[in-house]
Amino acid sequence: MQLFIDTANIDEIREAASWGVISGVTTNPSLIAKEKRDFKTVVKEISEIVDGPISAEVLSDTAEDMIPEALDLAKIADNIVIKIPMTREGLKAVKVLTKEGIKTNVTLVFSATQGLMAALAGATYVSPFIGRLDDISTDGMELVADLVTVIENYGLNTKVIAASVRHPMHVLQAAKVSAHIATVPFKVLEAMLNHPLTDAGIKRFKDDWAKVQKELGK
Ligand code: E4P
Repeated sequence: MQLFIDTANIDEIREAASWGVISGVTTNPSLIAKEKRDFKTVVKEISEIVDGPISAEVLSDTAEDMIPEALDLAKIADNIVIKIPMTREGLKAVKVLTKEGIKTNVTLVFSATQGLMAALAGATYVSPFIGRLDDISTDGMELVADLVTVIENYGLNTKVIAASVRHPMHVLQAAKVSAHIATVPFKVLEAMLNHPLTDAGIKRFKDDWAKVQKELGK
């Protein structure tokens, strides 16, 4: 499973990219708004840090408006993927953009039938939102598993991005159900790499080493 980072914060992206574990970036209007910076400038900067797919979301409601908005965003860099909401108009836009060779990520997917329709329309990625389903007492991971099964049953090309990830167990569970990708906030990536026993182990190694150096008079 690949890891994407789910943020529009340049420092977080740069730091996570330096760990060598990030294959792409997902943003959304809320994440971009948090940075209080120009949308296209932020997306351009991200595309210069990470080679892999960078999702940038359209804000229009109709396919007629989504398509030119998407084409404009796609010009920012070769690795831009257009994030399109899972609506009737969104599907129409995905169909057209796919024919134009533009990659899409259908977002706000909350059911397997929505995901199937997005895949059939030609979406490069579908993003089921685990955390937001868990928040309303519905098993978000079951949706990820169902989508992976449906897509693999029929050899569809769409990749499933486990999104709305809230903690490291979401990432592990997504990997266990064979999600192709998990997009993960920076603080969850940090939580994944940290372990108190690793810290304690490093401290003990250093203490043991220092003790012997002292005994040897070094
Ligand atoms: C992913 O593509 C979405 O931007 C993101 O994962 C949404 O996460 P949230 O439910 O924590 O806002």
